[in-house]
Amino acid sequence: MEKCLKTRKKKAETAKQKLFSLSYMDFSRKTVSSGDFIYFPIKDFDKSKISKLGTISSKKLPKKIRKPRTISEILSKKLSKTELTELKTSFDIFGDIILVEIPENLIKKEKLIGNSFLKLYPNIRAVFKKTGKVSGIERVRPAKRIAGTGTSEVNYKESGCIFKFDISKVFFTPRLSTEREKIFAKVKPGEIVLDMFAGVGPFSVIIAKKQPLVEKVYAIDINNTAISYLRENARINKVSDKVEAFVGDSKTTISKKFKGIADRVIMNLPKTSLNFLPTALNALKPKGGVLHYYTFKATKQEVKAEVSARLKSKKHRILSIRNVKPYAPREYCFCADIKIYK
Ligand SMILES: C[S@@+](CC[C@H](N)C(=O)[O-])C[C@H]1O[C@@H](n2cnc3c(N)ncnc32)[C@H](O)[C@@H]1O
Repeated sequence: MEKCLKTRKKKAETAKQKLFSLSYMDFSRKTVSSGDFIYFPIKDFDKSKISKLGTISSKKLPKKIRKPRTISEILSKKLSKTELTELKTSFDIFGDIILVEIPENLIKKEKLIGNSFLKLYPNIRAVFKKTGKVSGIERVRPAKRIAGTGTSEVNYKESGCIFKFDISKVFFTPRLSTEREKIFAKVKPGEIVLDMFAGVGPFSVIIAKKQPLVEKVYAIDINNTAISYLRENARINKVSDKVEAFVGDSKTTISKKFKGIADRVIMNLPKTSLNFLPTALNALKPKGGVLHYYTFKATKQEVKAEVSARLKSKKHRILSIRNVKPYAPREYCFCADIKIYK
């Protein structure tokens, strides 16, 4: 039997507030309703301070079962201490899929880990593990399902847009969502934007959706599957009239079709974007424009040095350099916004 405050239902709200303010509520037990009365579990109380709210009595009150809130908590009794320290607790959610990293030593427990994620997140359909690094020219990461059902194709929402894509066939990271917000906020009415490494179109589609007065967004990617998804995403988000997509290498596509046409160029290929700077400059209008140049570096100073060295013969001004996200130990993805003059 537990100590409780028995109070009439019409007085229950006042009693609850008072018990909270005095810190008398016993949160390990459930509040019970029976007939005209509510029984609040209480502990460490001074009877005189609450006697006006009802009567102090004893009643069997069920224990509150606290649901685990993290993957470490849910696995705390199923993995050893060493295994728990090795468990990777950060993960990405893409729509109804979770993508996790399973360390070598926990591969035998991957089903258990996957199923635990499903228990923790009831809206998740499947859990995939990374089976390699983001690699190759198309920057794709292979993945394998370890729990749940269905394929690795998802519908992911960002900035009021829906993106359909297969996480194992194209590049996509939700970790750039804040960066994409920053970019679309800079786009002005009437601009022509060129997205040189567009993937499934998160920059292109969001810009077209959020800045409907943009003149045109041209999107290029070398990955055929990414461009198929990009076109579908433009349709889903009703911006097909603004977004035009092309499969191919940016260098060749720009030199053939897009010389001197853009007000703004997005260069989201941090690993090798430096090699594409001359191409991006060629894509800008003769009066100049803005480049969003992504690169992996340790510090902002290194970004500045790289940009200034490469653009020394071109009149330019670095508007800002942002640390976008961590990439590797002591290495970050930076974005330099660069104004290019005539
Ligand atoms: C880091 S991902 C960025 C994708 C997209 N901007 C996003 O935020 O999801 C780089 C993309 O560039 C594409 N890519 C790599 N080299 C390319 C090239 N030479 N020309 C065009 N696209 C290229 C890859 O296929 C990949 O989709």
